[in-house]
Amino acid sequence: MHDQLLRLDGISKSFPGVRALSDVHLDLRAGEVLALVGENGAGKSTLMKVLAGIHQQDTGTIHIDGQPVDIDGPKTAQSLGISIIHQEFSLMPDLTIAENIYIGREPHTGFGMLVDDRRLNRRAADLFERLGIDLDPRTKVGDLLVAQQQVVEIAKALSFDARVLIMDEPTAALTESETENLFRLIRDLRDQGTGVIYISHRLAELKEISDRITVLRDGEYIDTLQTGEADLRHVISLMVGRQISGEAGPTRSTSPEQPTVLEVSGLKRGSRIKDVSFDLKQGEILGFAGLMGAGRTEVARVICGADRADRGHILLRGRPVKIKTPTDAARLRIGYLSEDRKRLGLMLDQDVNFNILASSLSDYVNPFGLIRDKPGRLTSERYVESLKIKTPSIRQQTKALSGGNQQKVIIAKWLAKNCDILIFDEPTRGIDVGAKEEIYELLNLLADEGKSIIMISSELPEVLRMAHRIVVMCEGRVTGVLDGAEADQEMVMDYATRSGSHGGIATS
Ligand SMILES: Nc1ncnc2c1ncn2[C@@H]1O[C@H](COP(=O)(O)OP(=O)(O)OP(=O)(O)O)[C@@H](O)[C@H]1O
Ligand SMILES: [Mg+2]
Repeated sequence: MHDQLLRLDGISKSFPGVRALSDVHLDLRAGEVLALVGENGAGKSTLMKVLAGIHQQDTGTIHIDGQPVDIDGPKTAQSLGISIIHQEFSLMPDLTIAENIYIGREPHTGFGMLVDDRRLNRRAADLFERLGIDLDPRTKVGDLLVAQQQVVEIAKALSFDARVLIMDEPTAALTESETENLFRLIRDLRDQGTGVIYISHRLAELKEISDRITVLRDGEYIDTLQTGEADLRHVISLMVGRQISGEAGPTRSTSPEQPTVLEVSGLKRGSRIKDVSFDLKQGEILGFAGLMGAGRTEVARVICGADRADRGHILLRGRPVKIKTPTDAARLRIGYLSEDRKRLGLMLDQDVNFNILASSLSDYVNPFGLIRDKPGRLTSERYVESLKIKTPSIRQQTKALSGGNQQKVIIAKWLAKNCDILIFDEPTRGIDVGAKEEIYELLNLLADEGKSIIMISSELPEVLRMAHRIVVMCEGRVTGVLDGAEADQEMVMDYATRSGSHGGIATS
């Protein structure tokens, strides 16, 4: 017999205009990993926030060890042994790693009220050693890469020695080797009797890490399956409520015979970009593949004016250009959808309409400097529809949208801006299977319209399927440019690991 650790019954929760959960059931055993899946907006995070004391359910009961509990706030959840890794980063950028982890629980000096920094940092260092994390606890969180921030979030949740550990998309920003490390940790915790609830849109992970899978759809409980017996295609059909192919579509043919719009040669910046040259044609989707640390995002940042190159040339339609700031890039109609969307992408207090139009406002201003409301509104409504952004209206505050739907808003924002060259950095991260298809379709449509697209992605099947050509990078250099129709997974991986001294996967 398994010990039932946690049990939720008949949980309902509404927000103004949205019924996020209705009559949801879930049970979790000690020593198991329960995957919780569903489309963007299905109610996964809301259910977990009820458990973590962030939201109170309208109806329904929660039992822990068979006893009814009333989780009236985050402190209560913590004292009941429930710990959560949030989908949205909740760290304070101005505090150090150690300060973030032990916020509100800092050790104090002998007599005074002062925080004992040495003990604080020691404690964090001990925790990191236990978890096999290689970070200096004294670093400011704001100076960390996205993946590193995610690692800190995870460490923080683990520092509570929880009985119930909730992970809401913990691997969204992690590399393969970091994910492996995390899985090892999860298995250790599970073996010690912790119950883990694991949310992810990377369905392949479920097979690897979970024991059972609970499916939600439109705020309702659908089913719970034994992972060992479950067919992923069946899980997907339960999630979306219909049959979808889920198969990667046909791969691309060779690049269209089109003029070159962008030519980058001999690019160098610090130690991250050593020597990068490539060209982009009109109407082309150019994939960028490589392992974490290969320098793909760094190249994108130079092209969009966020960073300056030390050396190298950029030709735009044959003319040399200097792109010193993001404003320069915008004037040249180059757009960049950053991988670090939480920090750079959205004004969460503003409504969906505002955010979609945010980077193209000048297109909607009349000669008197006033915003022409209607054309803008039509544009945002069009994108809400085509990307299937789940929101009661375009007037909804963006922070009320689910994580995946917020991502779609950022994508809509870049699509609404009329760029000729669009750089998408991990465009489908955190996005559910059905919505991924919609984004692929949109990218294809844009390319067919003559826009040129650079698509950086760590999901190889996606690059192989979408790209006309694939630029493979390794440690700051281009190691190969492959034809999208001929390339396969092994070829790309081969080029992605082609460097003299390569000893493993870089983690930063
Ligand atoms: N604070 C809020 N105010 C209003 N509506 C909300 C709020 N939080 C969530 N919602 C709505 O509740 C529904 C469920 O959202 P939830 O964040 O739980 O989805 P999710 O399954 O976690 O999706 P994703 O995979 O995109 O993270 C969505 O329609 C969302 O817009
Ligand atoms: Mg969510």
